[in-house]
Amino acid sequence: MREQWSRGGFLLAAVGSAAGLGNIWRFSYVAGENGGAAFLIIYMVAVIFIGLPLVIAELAIGRRGRDDAVATLRHQAPGKHWYIAGGLSVVGAFFILGFYSLIAGWALKYFIGAVDGSLWAPVHSSAYGAYFKAFIARPYEPLIWQLLMIAITTAVVAAGIRHGIEAANRLLMPILGLIIIALAVYSLNLDGAEKGLEFLFSPDWSAFSRPAVYIAAIGQAFFSLGIGMAIFLTYGSYLDPGQSIGKSACIIVLGDSLLAITAGLAIFPAVFAFGIDPAEGPELAFITLPGLFSQMPGGRFIGTLFFGLLAGAALTSMFSILEVPSAYLARRMAWSRRKAVCLAALLSFLAGLPPALGFALLEDITINGRGLLDTYDYAVSHLLLPTGGILIALFTGWGWGKSRALEASGLLNSPLGKVWLFSLRYISPVVILAVFMSA
Ligand code: TRP
Repeated sequence: MREQWSRGGFLLAAVGSAAGLGNIWRFSYVAGENGGAAFLIIYMVAVIFIGLPLVIAELAIGRRGRDDAVATLRHQAPGKHWYIAGGLSVVGAFFILGFYSLIAGWALKYFIGAVDGSLWAPVHSSAYGAYFKAFIARPYEPLIWQLLMIAITTAVVAAGIRHGIEAANRLLMPILGLIIIALAVYSLNLDGAEKGLEFLFSPDWSAFSRPAVYIAAIGQAFFSLGIGMAIFLTYGSYLDPGQSIGKSACIIVLGDSLLAITAGLAIFPAVFAFGIDPAEGPELAFITLPGLFSQMPGGRFIGTLFFGLLAGAALTSMFSILEVPSAYLARRMAWSRRKAVCLAALLSFLAGLPPALGFALLEDITINGRGLLDTYDYAVSHLLLPTGGILIALFTGWGWGKSRALEASGLLNSPLGKVWLFSLRYISPVVILAVFMSA
């Protein structure tokens, strides 16, 4: 029989999947580059009107199918080609995990460095740029940290749904929640914190007329929730038949957004209190912040918490990405879970080699002016996830059958069912496509 989550365990694992590097590392620099509060508003609108319906859709399809992404879409639409969307997710997962685990490895390196003190060796806060660049340019060291993160993920996922993924989330999520709240409280109490709040909450209206802000906000909404890659479809296949999908989806979306905003409350007030410009790109977490930690009172302790949070949040997201291809391989090859997870992890590591070497051996390769890591990130959040999202929306709205969709989601007798289907049929595909084309 297929394994099943406990009810609370599912919610923890699903929020754990959604809340990750996207909420902390990615959210902070994308918000910084795209005007802060204006970005936040567009992002929240995208999360509610496009993200939430897609989470519900994925969970409903997954629970009805009770199988991996490819098999489920095949059975739910026999004779049609929707299963290709499942195949896209399986292949996409290798590439996402490939570059995601790289950054997760950086976080682990900084966490261990914060604990053993080596991170605090560059005495001047201005030395962290050189520290970071020297680290990522080393040919092997980043790969080793990345492998460590992949190895932990493999061990957890191989142990199964209840005893692996659920158990690890039960342990990690409460700790991560406490850390992020503690960091936000600390940051908000720094002198000059108000400027950070202003940046996050008072919009610069001119940003609303820049299409790039919309593209970034929708890309971030997809990445942060982790939709369009059959994650919730796969997690949903282990869902208790009695658990409400609508309520669960609301909790997941709310939890993910709260974590992103709390991370913003931890990062921006501190950045502004020290008079730094937040629009510094992806290096915000690995250059700017360690520089801050090295100067602020109690900064070493705070820095240790921060990088522990980053590495832990990355782990709980890596579980879900690895589960998608693992479930597929286990069924397709009729392998044990353990064997399937190991092969999926290996393939992900291989798919991640180009960006991992993108600062060393392959340093000179750029695509449209982007380095390899940026190219992966861009292709995933602006092409792969939106394509997956459109396919899931079209399948649920048009391909699956109205009454089946409403019944599977548990929204048959709810007025929200109509709104949900309307969003999947018209709003999501049109908006995603429009944003897509302009990118
Ligand atoms: N949502 C996670 C984050 O914010 C990352 C993630 C997990 C993800 N599963 C995903 C991203 C699937 C894209 C697709 O860090």
